[in-house]
Amino acid sequence: MPKIIISGRGGSGKSTLVTLLTKRLKEQGKVLVVDSDESNLGLGGMLGIEPAKKTLMDYLGGKPLVMGKLRAMLQKENSEQIEFFADSDLDSLSSEFVHWNGSGGLMQIGKIEHTMEGCACPMGAIAHDFLKHLVVGEGEWVLIDTEAGVEHFGRGIVEGADAVLVVVDPSNDAVLLAEKAVKLTEEAGKNFGVVLNKVDDKTMHILEEMLEAKDLKIKGVLPYLPGMAQTNLRGEPLEANSANDELDKLITKIAS
Ligand SMILES: Nc1ncnc2c1ncn2[C@@H]1O[C@H](COP(=O)(O)OP(=O)(O)OP(=O)(O)O)[C@@H](O)[C@H]1O
Ligand SMILES: [Mg+2]
Repeated sequence: MPKIIISGRGGSGKSTLVTLLTKRLKEQGKVLVVDSDESNLGLGGMLGIEPAKKTLMDYLGGKPLVMGKLRAMLQKENSEQIEFFADSDLDSLSSEFVHWNGSGGLMQIGKIEHTMEGCACPMGAIAHDFLKHLVVGEGEWVLIDTEAGVEHFGRGIVEGADAVLVVVDPSNDAVLLAEKAVKLTEEAGKNFGVVLNKVDDKTMHILEEMLEAKDLKIKGVLPYLPGMAQTNLRGEPLEANSANDELDKLITKIAS
């Protein structure tokens, strides 16, 4: 089953989509959520899963150590081979960096913790290697939440995934970013789809026209869900209930 990157502009609803999909998918199988956003902290609250004490970066010994290893690897002749992990499946991941709540799991790649610590590129390098070696079985899913924009394409995380879903909310920026993301996804040789979010009848119609003009395929639509922002604001777990039909349609499309 697929490893899917959820991408899109800031605030478009990436983490919300990851959460709602996880809630629906874990009724049928196992879902690992990989939080690759180095800034935002609220995904665990949305999912109702307490993050593990260690991020993947902590598990590997911390950013300075990882950066040292990356530098050493890059100096060697075979600089393509940056490898931190061996092949592993969802069941064999260490509880030091993954917390499970039933059949839903959450792990964080790493967060920016200190001023002047440098950029998040080392997080990208370990995320790429981890995902590349992650073996996903039948009935299992891996959903990767990303930071806003297209930095994760630059960092190569997409190389470790099978597909990219771009969340488009009713804004011109979101459409322009989707157009860019499809090119980057094609360049990486992965599958691509758009999910409209926070739409009503009027904005959905306009977005459909704009995306069709750019030949971008819509895989799913989530309406504006009243109460969603309030639940998020309180840091409470999100419930999918009123969007279940739309989520099921989207799941059927991405599974095929
Ligand atoms: N379908 C929806 N209906 C109503 N509100 C929504 C919907 N989707 C997301 N929101 C609200 O929009 C805000 C941003 O959502 P979210 O945090 O999921 O976006 P994001 O793309 O992950 O943001 P970031 O780029 O900061 O990571 C939140 O307050 C969330 O509750
Ligand atoms: Mg987010």
